[in-house]
Amino acid sequence: MRFFSSTRDIPESVAVPRHVAIIMDGNGRWAKKRFLPRVAGHKRGVEAVRATVKACIERGIGYLTLFAFSSENWRRPVDEVSYLMGLFVSVLESEVEKLHDAGVRLRVIGDLSRFDARLIELIASGERRTAGNDRLVLTVAANYGGRGDIMQAVNRMIAASPAPANGYTEDDLAPHLSMAYAPEPDLFIRTGGEQRISNFLLWQLAYTECYFTDLPWPEFDAGRLDEAIGSFRARERRFGRTSEQLTDPASPSRPGHA
Ligand code: IPE
Ligand code: IPE
Ligand code: MG
Repeated sequence: MRFFSSTRDIPESVAVPRHVAIIMDGNGRWAKKRFLPRVAGHKRGVEAVRATVKACIERGIGYLTLFAFSSENWRRPVDEVSYLMGLFVSVLESEVEKLHDAGVRLRVIGDLSRFDARLIELIASGERRTAGNDRLVLTVAANYGGRGDIMQAVNRMIAASPAPANGYTEDDLAPHLSMAYAPEPDLFIRTGGEQRISNFLLWQLAYTECYFTDLPWPEFDAGRLDEAIGSFRARERRFGRTSEQLTDPASPSRPGHA
């Protein structure tokens, strides 16, 4: 199945985002403010994940993608990285069955080869266990980087069809991206106050509505998700067109353009 591409088609505007992608940031600062070790913020962040997954199901959002660990997060202190790895293991052990019962399909994107065997096995078994679910597709980006994803797709594309006469197109590349199974995100949220993409879904965020909040991730919940959705609803998504073209059918696009 091929989803709408925000650059090749004009996607339909929706009141409830089909796909929400979140950079869960601000855990360390949340903890520091409370005189707790940084990792206490990661632990508390799991509760915000639970609340957000539940809220997405209730609101009929089809895809939720969470940035859990970037390909650059290996640069952090060894102790923090190993705490995070341990946390991923324990969360998978305790949550997969609950996700399954809630009809959630779990998918993990990123280069898993650097993880311990135990974590790799838990990811594979979690994905297998929930493979038949379709209420919500929960993607966790772990050791993920947008540039790495694009480069992997380029290499796969070249291997699949060496050098077409007229050059490759976006449609040739897109199926090889690690999130080819999902529509592009309608709404991107970053908590924690920073206003940057930090090498998240670079290709897919081309026309995504961005929402930044100072709230640290451990304090995010259903109400805050609704605030972000409220902001999303108030936006006019033009995909390159003028405002008049959206409201006036007598103001069509140039022939030959979607
Ligand atoms: C995000 O919170 C979680 C991960 C990157 C794993 P941070 O740990 O980046 O928290 P801050 O940004 O230092 O507050
Ligand atoms: C982005 O947060 C990655 C995740 C939330 C997993 P960072 O805290 O690593 O991003 P920077 O370093 O502030 O850009
Ligand atoms: Mg951070």
